This record gives sequence, C-alpha cells and structure tokens, in this order.
Amino acid sequence: MNDYFALIKAAVDVRRYSVAPYSSFSVGAALLTRDGKIYTGCNIESSSLGLTICAERVALFKALSEGERSFAAVAISTSTGEACPPCGACRQVLLELAGNIDVLSIYDDKKYTMLKLEKLLPKAFTNKFIKRDR
Ligand code: THU
Repeated sequence: MNDYFALIKAAVDVRRYSVAPYSSFSVGAALLTRDGKIYTGCNIESSSLGLTICAERVALFKALSEGERSFAAVAISTSTGEACPPCGACRQVLLELAGNIDVLSIYDDKKYTMLKLEKLLPKAFTNKFIKRDR
C-alpha cells in the first residue's frame, strides 16, 4: 500500500490559494511523480468562466513544464464533505499526459476514496486513434 499522507496534506493545504470568486468552490490538487516529487495546483477562475482552469490541470501543467513525465497519483481536495471526482476535461488530460494513475478524492481533509484513472475514464480517446485520412 502506497503512503499518500504527504500528497493528501499538500492537496488540502494548497486549497487556500484557490481563486474562485464565481463558484465559491475551492479545489486543491497535488500530483505525485514516480520519483516522489509533489506538484500542487488550485482552481483559478476567470470572469469569462470558460477560461477557468481546474486545480488538477494547474498541478499537471506545472509538473510537465518543469520536465516531469512520469506520475503515480493525483489527490484532489474540496471542503464540501464528500469525495469530489475530477471533471471530464481533467480526466482526459490526466489520462493522456499522466497515464493511468491513482486518483484520490479527499474529503473532511483526511478521508479519501481511491480509484485508477482508467476506471473513471474507460475506453478513452487517445492519440493512437489519430490516423491521417488524406
Ligand atoms: N473544479 C476543479 O478545480 N476541478 C474539478 O475537477 C472540478 C471543478 C473547479 C472549477 C471551478 O473553479 C469550480 O471547481 C466549480 O466548477
């Protein structure tokens, strides 16, 4: 059994930096690399709403942009007392760019549910389906 204690704490702690004036729903995410580094992210909302970015993708893009390519798990923290799974867009981007990692949905700041990402996004579209048709 993996020890995700530090990852869970990082996801809970980063929630405080959430920029969510429109939804008032703060989300923290922490992404663990296979060599044990943690990258955090929070949701950041824009007045155009559609340009909002989820906590999970902030964490992932931070890690990728610093050269990380190998991941083990992502933890997601909200304050609403129930496990919050990643949205569809984040499932797609995480599966493509982080692989079939463990997804921990944290509630009450320490309890969590855990699933493999492929369980959350079965039969995903990936670049293996992209073939030139002309
Ligand atoms: N949000 C996330 O950060 N991650 C998710 O997986 C679901 C939704 C954010 C986006 C927006 O700022 C707020 O939660 C409400 O949708």
